[in-house]
Amino acid sequence: MNILLVGSGGREHALAWKIAQSPLLTRLVAAPGSPGIANLCETRTFKVTDVEGLVALAREIAADLVVIGPEAALEVGLADALTAIGIPCFGPTASAARIETSKAFSKDFQARHNLPTAAYGVFETVDDAAVFLDAQTAPFVIKADGLAAGKGVVIASTRAEADAAVADMLGGRFGTAGARVVIEEFMAGEEASFFALCDGETAIPFGYAQDHKRAHDGDEGPNTGGMGTYSPAPVLTDALAKRAFEEAVLPAVRGMAAEGAPYRGVLYAGLMLTPTGPRLVEFNARFGDPECQVLMLRLASDIVPYLKAAAEGALAAMPPPRWRDESALCVVYAAEGYPDAPRAGAVIEGADADFGDQVAVFHAGTSRNADGDLIASGGRVLNVCALGATLQEARDLAYAAIETIDFPGGFYRTDIGWRAL
Ligand code: AMP
Ligand code: GLY
Repeated sequence: MNILLVGSGGREHALAWKIAQSPLLTRLVAAPGSPGIANLCETRTFKVTDVEGLVALAREIAADLVVIGPEAALEVGLADALTAIGIPCFGPTASAARIETSKAFSKDFQARHNLPTAAYGVFETVDDAAVFLDAQTAPFVIKADGLAAGKGVVIASTRAEADAAVADMLGGRFGTAGARVVIEEFMAGEEASFFALCDGETAIPFGYAQDHKRAHDGDEGPNTGGMGTYSPAPVLTDALAKRAFEEAVLPAVRGMAAEGAPYRGVLYAGLMLTPTGPRLVEFNARFGDPECQVLMLRLASDIVPYLKAAAEGALAAMPPPRWRDESALCVVYAAEGYPDAPRAGAVIEGADADFGDQVAVFHAGTSRNADGDLIASGGRVLNVCALGATLQEARDLAYAAIETIDFPGGFYRTDIGWRAL
């Protein structure tokens, strides 16, 4: 098979790493890819939102399957354009991706189908938001409606902070993504990330993980896209995972089909494990990043037949995927200043060393300078991942590897996995 993989982050490097191991693969091309992905396959320079360019590339390489990593490509309709010309695509249409790209759509959808989630309201004016806030108690959860790169959520501990967040978002801080705000009931509990592959009609569970979203040790500091992950996450027991699948994921897939926007690709349910059971924090229309990295390390089955079956509506015939018994853990090496103002350009050494079979270093935000040096070019720069017989062993291996990498100004959390250990 010829496969086109769209994206350039650590998630896509992990997908490329796993796809490259498939005996079904003839040719893998990544667009735009990264220096890390370029160690595995061909890469071509395209923006992930360049629908016309990517469709032409898919045609040029006679792609049998296109795998879309990032939500930005989904939002602009890359899956729609590929489907229209008959190229199987792993990733939902723009309309189905609204389950992530519009929080207002997603919350209304969850309410229409009685999915377990927080009570909420959607507002376009400061005054209407204030009336809703009057009836709530702290902490207040305020979200920009559209995509805001993980920065559009404020958990306000005082009413003054809540009012300021609403004014800020409706005042244009996130452009049109903040034209509406969603205000939610606060849910207390531990969070977990649950994944399912969907083919428009049905779904199969595809692993779970736990992420550390705060920038600093002890789960302190600003919210980020994720500073580290591990899988399995003991807090999400088989019984809770089953409930999340049956109460949130399957009804969502059936609901999207019933509403005329069948969902194909991976559905990521961000869960809050509350005393009454798993409740949805959000849906995402893609793999988690860096959750995908630990899932790929643990996945024992060939991934390609699963991606293809999801794209072609054939998941019902697929056996459950097989997972390694080992635990996987990922530590994010971030650039100085992340998440507010990451500094680009630091020269990194040792990222592509041979770390042995148990360790994989995925590039999340790297590029090469004119001299060919590997440099930091994103907020989250490297994902240092390891497999171990126990979570402790995976953690020891990941930290031993990260210490050998020279990344001036880079920082990482030293406590990934603490909740499980
Ligand atoms: P989101 O971008 O929707 O995933 O929100 C970012 C983070 O805010 C989540 O990972 C949670 O930690 C937190 N959060 C979002 N919504 C709620 C809620 N209703 N109750 C408690 N925490 C929340
Ligand atoms: N790691 C969280 C996310 O991908 O949204």
